[in-house]
Amino acid sequence: MPANGGSAYPRSIGLLGGRAAHDIAIDLGTANTLVYERGRGIVVSEPSVVAVDFATGAVHAVGADARRMIGRTPASISAIRPLRHGVIADLEVTEQMLRHFIRRVHPRRFLRARVVMCAPSGITDVEQRAVEEACLAAGARQVHLIEEPIAAAIGAQMPISEPSGNLVVDVGGGTSEVAVISLGSIVVSESLRVGGYDLDDALANYLKRERTLAVGEQTVENLKLEIGSAVAREFEVESEVRGRDLVSGLPKTVALSSAETREAYAEPLRAIVAAIHDTLERTPPELAADIGDRGIVLAGGGVLLNGFRELVEQETRLPVHLTESPLTCVAVGAGHSLEEFQTLERMGDTRRRRALSLGRRTTFSRR
Ligand SMILES: Nc1ncnc2c1ncn2[C@@H]1O[C@H](COP(=O)(O)OP(=O)(O)OP(=O)(O)O)[C@@H](O)[C@H]1O
Ligand SMILES: [Mg+2]
Repeated sequence: MPANGGSAYPRSIGLLGGRAAHDIAIDLGTANTLVYERGRGIVVSEPSVVAVDFATGAVHAVGADARRMIGRTPASISAIRPLRHGVIADLEVTEQMLRHFIRRVHPRRFLRARVVMCAPSGITDVEQRAVEEACLAAGARQVHLIEEPIAAAIGAQMPISEPSGNLVVDVGGGTSEVAVISLGSIVVSESLRVGGYDLDDALANYLKRERTLAVGEQTVENLKLEIGSAVAREFEVESEVRGRDLVSGLPKTVALSSAETREAYAEPLRAIVAAIHDTLERTPPELAADIGDRGIVLAGGGVLLNGFRELVEQETRLPVHLTESPLTCVAVGAGHSLEEFQTLERMGDTRRRRALSLGRRTTFSRR
């Protein structure tokens, strides 16, 4: 990736002296938080987990260090994910996590960053205010929201400023978003509170039901990465699963096959595919014709599930492509939008800046 994070826009557009260097974009995800700094690219990529001591309120660890503690902490410490289904579930802990990441980029406190935050397109006004508040409380000077599908499409280098249909599907840890974008705005979209973690929950329930085995969330996520599958594989694979027997209460090991993971994932996968179908059904015919030619672009960590691309292809009969880097695509796209923000600000177009800050009908077309 080039130094400017592979920006599709000329670097000269947004670099307004030294101040611009403190603009950052944050993809605050249910599973991972990424920070993109203008001129440097992605500078933070960590799991969205915080280990907090509830007796004293002290933060023990943030990010990867905190994730290692999930399910392994003493009673007073809790390793928590402050976001659920793409929105903030614990405002205070989210603030602490953001403060930690922003300080890592801007160690000198007085350099207050101007921030573009990604938000799911299905977010409510209350949830939207929570994101803004958390970011300001964490030390940001100014906050603007960008809808995640728009950021994903920019990151995937889709020609969204043209008058043509672009269909992007972003499957994260807690949300799935499907959006048709034309002329820089979302035309139709579906936002689903189902993501990679719901596959993990479905597998944990399957193991409980079929094997009377209780397993931790890290175990089911690792199984997904190792043997998880969305469509029949040429060679099915197997893995050993360790957990606690629900009947005897003792540790137990069982074998699990990739075919069984498919059975377990059937319901959440069906919901994601249905959201794609619904979006296509509501797409105006001209745009649908463009999508028929160009196909669907997949972003977000969830699309890395073995066979996911093939599943969407089978179910829609359209060409389906994975973005080059599904896990970083949204952060990179939001980072590129920093350049656009500068342009709008210089043009003094308050209407469009307002649209950008509200994260609704955001216009990124370069006119
Ligand atoms: N190789 C893989 N196979 C299957 N799933 C994967 C793989 N790699 C990552 N994932 C899943 O991707 C999800 C994380 O993706 P991502 O970082 O895009 O989510 P997020 O942006 O934090 O969440 P959201 O957008 O829903 O708030 C997790 O559920 C993780 O288990
Ligand atoms: Mg995401």
